[in-house]
Amino acid sequence: MKAIISDIHSNLEALQAVLADIEKQNITEIYCLGDIIGYGPNPRECIDLAMKCNLVILGNHDQGAVFDPDGFNPPAERAIFWTRAQLETSGEDHSKREKRWEFLAERPRTFAEDGYLFVHGSARNPLNEYVFPEDIYNQRKMDRIFALIDKYCFQGHTHVPGVFMESLQDDTYIFQSPEEIDSVHKLDEHKTMINVGSVGQPRDSNWRACYVVLDGNQVKFRRVEYDIDKTVQKIHDIPDLDNFLGDRLRDGR
Ligand SMILES: [Fe+2]
Repeated sequence: MKAIISDIHSNLEALQAVLADIEKQNITEIYCLGDIIGYGPNPRECIDLAMKCNLVILGNHDQGAVFDPDGFNPPAERAIFWTRAQLETSGEDHSKREKRWEFLAERPRTFAEDGYLFVHGSARNPLNEYVFPEDIYNQRKMDRIFALIDKYCFQGHTHVPGVFMESLQDDTYIFQSPEEIDSVHKLDEHKTMINVGSVGQPRDSNWRACYVVLDGNQVKFRRVEYDIDKTVQKIHDIPDLDNFLGDRLRDGR
């Protein structure tokens, strides 16, 4: 059994709650699909925990902190520069700082294993492309992305969990949210993209941390409560993190 997490965004309380939930199950491996940092108040702590995962893919916010941020809105960019400063000027021992930088800089953009592909954004543009639920109506986009997938692709980036599949009747596509499928999907002969949702900043109007458990061919979406008041307060207390970044957590948007 495998847990697949994504988009932690420096939310330590959410990550700790998810790791505790994972620990209660028979899970042997944890894969993380990127965006460990950005937006939230605990980048160093979240990187240290993510380093224990069996696989960690590079996310666009991770890349923005290590290299040059490009294409971010002003609050996101300010958060990235604040994050970078945390990683650079931490008062802890030098070796730990170096290890975090090296770890982020060495992250792969994709990982493939037994017909399963793992990316942050999409199979076509692993780092930056969003695949939103409404993209099922963009036939060309979906055709091109699905053509790059062998069987199944796990991704994050939009913070909106759910399952994208080729239709059983024709060559159109369907999207199903976790609510529509009672949080469980069985992988079958159809090519499928699974968005595992976001641990630290869900945007599907549900504030609880989201991740996925893969057990054989069964994908199960899990929601986990965490101490959101603590995270929001920390964000409000840091001038470089826009208050909105805390407030949005409550609404899951
Ligand atoms: Fe993200």
